[in-house]
Formats: sequence, C-alpha cells, structure tokens
Amino acid sequence: MDGTLNLFDVDCQAGDVSRFPATRYQGSKRKILGWIAETIKDLPFESALDAFGGTGSVAYLLKTLGKQVTYNDTLQANHQIGVALIQNNSELLTDEHIQDIFAPRPDAKYDDFIARTFSGIYFTDEENEWLDIVVQNIPRLEGEHVRAAAWFALFQACIAKRPYNLFHRRNLYMRTADVGRSFGNKATWDRSFREHFCKYAAEANKAIFQGAYECFAQCGDALQAPGEFDLVYIDPPYVSGRNVGVDYHGFYHFLEGMVDYPRWPGLIDESSKHRRLAPLPSDWLRAGHNGSAFGRLFEKYQDSILVISYRSDGRPSIDELTRLLRRFKPQVQVSSYGGYQYALSKNRSSKEVLLVGV
Ligand SMILES: C[S@@+](CC[C@H](N)C(=O)[O-])C[C@H]1O[C@@H](n2cnc3c(N)ncnc32)[C@H](O)[C@@H]1O
Repeated sequence: MDGTLNLFDVDCQAGDVSRFPATRYQGSKRKILGWIAETIKDLPFESALDAFGGTGSVAYLLKTLGKQVTYNDTLQANHQIGVALIQNNSELLTDEHIQDIFAPRPDAKYDDFIARTFSGIYFTDEENEWLDIVVQNIPRLEGEHVRAAAWFALFQACIAKRPYNLFHRRNLYMRTADVGRSFGNKATWDRSFREHFCKYAAEANKAIFQGAYECFAQCGDALQAPGEFDLVYIDPPYVSGRNVGVDYHGFYHFLEGMVDYPRWPGLIDESSKHRRLAPLPSDWLRAGHNGSAFGRLFEKYQDSILVISYRSDGRPSIDELTRLLRRFKPQVQVSSYGGYQYALSKNRSSKEVLLVGV
C-alpha cells in the first residue's frame, strides 16, 4: 500500500462523518454529530477551535464542512489523535509501518517498564511485554502523522481491551476470572492487541482526508490556547448533578503514560493501587469552580461565536450557564437533543444540550 492519499482519493461529502472511527471514549459526541451539524450549519464562520477535542469527532465534522479547524486538548494522548485524524490530510499507516511497530529491532535495547510496573493491573503479562516493545517502536517511525496514526490505533486497542473501557481501577481479574458474566465483552477483551491494532489502523486510514484548509492539532489548557477563531466549540468535562466531574486524566492516565514513556516512571502516584499518574488539579472537575472557568473561557473568546455542548442535569445548571453566556453574547439559543444518552450513562433523564451564543 502506498503511504499517501491525494485530494481525489476520498470523496468526502460536506458533513459526511461516516468514516469517523467508532469509539468508547467517555463523552464522545460522535453519535450526535448530525444534530450538531444541523444546529451550526447556518452560522457564519470559516475558522473554528474545538477547545476540548477528545476523540476529535466534532473537529472532524468541522473539517468535513470545509472549515479551518484547530483541535485542542489538554491530554498529550488526545493531541496525537488530533494530529492523526484532523491535522493529517494524507499520510496513511502502511503494512510496512505496522511490521516495524510490532517487531523488536535487533539493534535496539528495550525497557520493560510496563511489564515491571503494571503486572496484574490492566493487561496480562504477555500483553504488557508486547506493549513495551510497541510503545518504544512508535517514536522510531518517520513522520509525525504516521506516528500519530500509530498512537491512535494503539490507544483504541487498549481501550477496547479494558473492562469499562477505562483505567480507573485495578481490575484485570474481571477479564481472567473463571466466572459467569452479566456484562462486558470477553471476546473483545481477549482478542489480541495485534488484531485490534490492525483494525483501528485501517479505521484511521479510512478517516483521513484532505481538508479545504490546513488544519492543526495543539495540546494545552483551553484557557491558554493561542489563536483567534470565528467559532469556538466548547465541550468540557461534564460535572453531574451529584457534583462528580469526569476526570479524563484519571480515566486515561495509562495512554498518557505511554506517549511519555521515558518520563512515565517519575510521574506515577506511588500511593495508588492502580499506579495512575499523579492527579492534576482542574477547575473543570469541580462544581462551584467550573462555573468561573466557563466565565473565563467565554470572556477570552467573546469575539467568537460560542457553541457549548452541555447536559441538562450538569452543574452549573443550564439556566446559570445561559445567564453567564448572555453577559458576553446578546443572542443565546438553547436546544436539546431528545433522549440522547452517553454510552455509559445510567441517568435516563439527562439530555444533550447545545447553547449557541452569537
Ligand atoms: C467531553 S470530552 C470532549 C469530547 C469530544 N467533543 C468528543 O466528541 O470526543 C472533554 C475533553 O476535554 C479535555 N480536557 C479536560 N480539561 C481540559 C482543559 N483544561 N483544556 C482542554 N481540554 C481539556 C479532556 O481530555 C477530554 O478529552
């Protein structure tokens, strides 16, 4: 397979997100992209910032709409996904790349940090040894976009093989214990890393296309993101009615560690049973603090059209958020998507909401 695409290889129609990979990432908006597209389609904008990019699903929608998109996320792992699927216009992960990623290089010396540190926690010993090799081979690939596509495939494989698709607990036993199960997909958990990786590499390759403009991926706090944009899309961590914020750094720390492999040993919280990274404080995770973070973000981007994804039972309330947005935007429209649930949400009354301030 040739490693590049040209403009005409992919007939990507405006708003066609069917090639965007399926994901179990918390809070992904993939399933409601059609509704988001419908809500924003008549807004006058060319450039857009997806300030809390996550899987990149909304940045991808914006790219298919022919916009000049900047993807941003605070996690380094997510930044790689933005590079792979948004910034990348044409570079594919070939079979040769995949061979180079899987095979230990005879001339290289490999650390076994994952095998030494995470035995019995997330993956089997054999899988940990495989991860140690692959994680040290990916940085040796040539080309930022190719490396990012390889990280994407590896992250998706890791998420697919985890009970609850998270790294929040030491629960490998759920995969390996010889018990009856009422949930989960043991076949998916036990499918080999190689098989998962190849499947997700193919999904990334299918999704990559040449945008109408150059698009970028950057890594950092949304409040510090550089640049000016006609529209800013804001989809921060959800803080539930019970005041519990979705801690992405806590849920996906293992992916974050893999991208930062040489520094990983020094970043671990040794007091945690599941060897997470030392937690990072964030106003976005705490009710009472996230309201002022919204205020600072609205102020920073007050000259842009603001589009906010929210949940009807989130904290602050929709009414409070609307009042806050009105301080900066004369017109605020609030719409709700009937009945949509997050993949893992048990709260049946929670609805997806979009606030648009112009
Ligand atoms: C609800 S998710 C976004 C989901 C995304 N719209 C999608 O469709 O996949 C929130 C994202 O915000 C990121 N995040 C958390 N704090 C952040 C911050 N201060 N600045 C930028 N991104 C942040 C998390 O890593 C997470 O990926």
